[in-house]
Amino acid sequence: MKQLSGNIQMKTFSSVLVKFAVCFLVLGLAYRLFSSSLFQFSPVFVGNDEKPGLRVDKTMPPQVVAEPPPEITDDPFLNLDDHAPENVTEKCNLFLGDWVPEPNGPMYTNTTCQTIEAPQNCMKNGRPDSDYIYWRWKPRDCNLPKFDPNKFLNIMRKKSMAFIGDSIMRNHVQSLLCMLSKVEKAVDIYHDEAYRNRRWSFPSYKFTVSLFWSPFLTKAHTFEDDNGVSTGLIQLHLDELDTLWTKQIENLDYVIVAGGKWFLKSALYYENNTLVGCHNCHNANITQLGFQYAYRKAINSVLKFIICSKKKAFTLFRTLVPDHFENGEWNTGGYCNRTRPFKEGEIEINDTDEIMRRVELEEFQSAAAEIGSANSMNLELFDATLLSLLRPDGHPGVYRQFHPNARIDKHAKIQNDCLHWCLPGPIDSWNDLMLEMLLKDKN
Ligand SMILES: *[C@@H]1O[C@H](CO)[C@@H](O)[C@H](O)[C@H]1NC(C)=O
Ligand SMILES: *[C@@H]1O[C@H](CO)[C@@H](O)[C@H](O)[C@H]1NC(C)=O
Ligand SMILES: *[C@@H]1O[C@H](CO)[C@@H](O)[C@H](O)[C@H]1NC(C)=O
Ligand SMILES: *[C@@H]1O[C@H](CO)[C@@H](O)[C@H](O)[C@H]1NC(C)=O
Ligand SMILES: *[C@@H]1O[C@H](CO)[C@@H](O)[C@H](O)[C@H]1NC(C)=O
Ligand SMILES: *[C@@H]1O[C@H](CO)[C@@H](O)[C@H](O)[C@H]1NC(C)=O
Repeated sequence: MKQLSGNIQMKTFSSVLVKFAVCFLVLGLAYRLFSSSLFQFSPVFVGNDEKPGLRVDKTMPPQVVAEPPPEITDDPFLNLDDHAPENVTEKCNLFLGDWVPEPNGPMYTNTTCQTIEAPQNCMKNGRPDSDYIYWRWKPRDCNLPKFDPNKFLNIMRKKSMAFIGDSIMRNHVQSLLCMLSKVEKAVDIYHDEAYRNRRWSFPSYKFTVSLFWSPFLTKAHTFEDDNGVSTGLIQLHLDELDTLWTKQIENLDYVIVAGGKWFLKSALYYENNTLVGCHNCHNANITQLGFQYAYRKAINSVLKFIICSKKKAFTLFRTLVPDHFENGEWNTGGYCNRTRPFKEGEIEINDTDEIMRRVELEEFQSAAAEIGSANSMNLELFDATLLSLLRPDGHPGVYRQFHPNARIDKHAKIQNDCLHWCLPGPIDSWNDLMLEMLLKDKN
């Protein structure tokens, strides 16, 4: 049941009516997980991919510079006859497919792209195998053209695009910048002190890309010391969104947004500024609502807000990206040293991940139903879960550090990163998918 088989996935997609059919199953699973402390994701780990010791500068949210509306004559889609409508089949689910060999390898390397962040620069860090870069995602029922940076930048002329979420979003942006660097190098036009909120420009195209660090998407207070160690429970306001990104929404033409693993952390939940419950707070006086309660409320608030915004940005809502720690967790010696993708059926999605994904699908479907067929706005699901699940080989593992095997103290434990993706790596295929969705939208 929990296996992400093609059939189940297709069904989930095509039917808006089934949206709450799985509720009882989810609740059943969820109940079992309520008081479990197993699902806590340490702030140390999630914090580790940041520059340690640096705090988010929430006092200075980045401003997106509003570009003048493009003139009709500039519309690049007038010339796009290579994506004829008859070939845009509703039946093709781009996210249902397989990883197939790609002998040509990635379109950039650690030397042609200068902006790969150290923890993702696996080859430079000494990862010995390279098979993992010779695969591409192939939807079963249609062709997925490789990312064409010229085509992408032409669509994005005078537009602004934002990536909103956690460090997987940053990972995605890094990949996009590397692929676009074939045509034009991104110019860094803004970053906060911790480099968590950033903005780049592609001057020839007057295209701006923003990255908003908002792992909970909602208003959140986190209590961490300079080493990222938690000194108090996170406080989440499930009915109030993070103004860091909401303030900018009217300036954005394209949005990609996602929740994720931060919701598994112990936290206190607030609604209407009142404590309503918690997850893992170990206080008998506070109702244990569980992470899935918060996740549903938060995703619901986010999608509602986006639907109701005046601007009607083209929005991709990305689903959960599973990790691949084996024989332990991130902090108990878990590792990921596989060198080949799984084939479908070789791996089952983790229960926790499955619960989060269900919430995402249900909330997405109810948002889509709300929009209805009027189609005054574009909200689409970017279903990264299955294709990510199949790539245990694409993570940095110990190669999140520079030459981990050459370290002085051979006995010191090396922490693995089995959550983020090497660059180049599997996440590059996300941009093939993203461009395809943008092109379909224009047809
Ligand atoms: C699922 O993953 C979480 C960490 O994300 C882990 O704590 C849990 O044990 C896993 N569950 C199963 C059934 O593997
Ligand atoms: C659709 O595209 C595929 C791959 O590009 C091609 O093989 C097929 O013939 C096209 N079908 C139509 C109806 O144009
Ligand atoms: C890039 O990766 C290759 C391995 O493919 C490695 O030999 C080289 O040192 C790397 N270069 C840089 C600048 O990281
Ligand atoms: C929120 O709280 C205020 C005052 O505490 C109360 O008057 C109001 O009814 C509450 N609203 C909701 C929706 O619970
Ligand atoms: C729960 O509430 C009772 C009664 O108000 C109080 O005595 C107790 O200390 C509280 N427990 C916790 C863990 O806060
Ligand atoms: C992966 O690591 C484990 C534990 O260190 C080891 O037993 C196994 O042989 C490794 N597998 C590969 C493919 O390197």
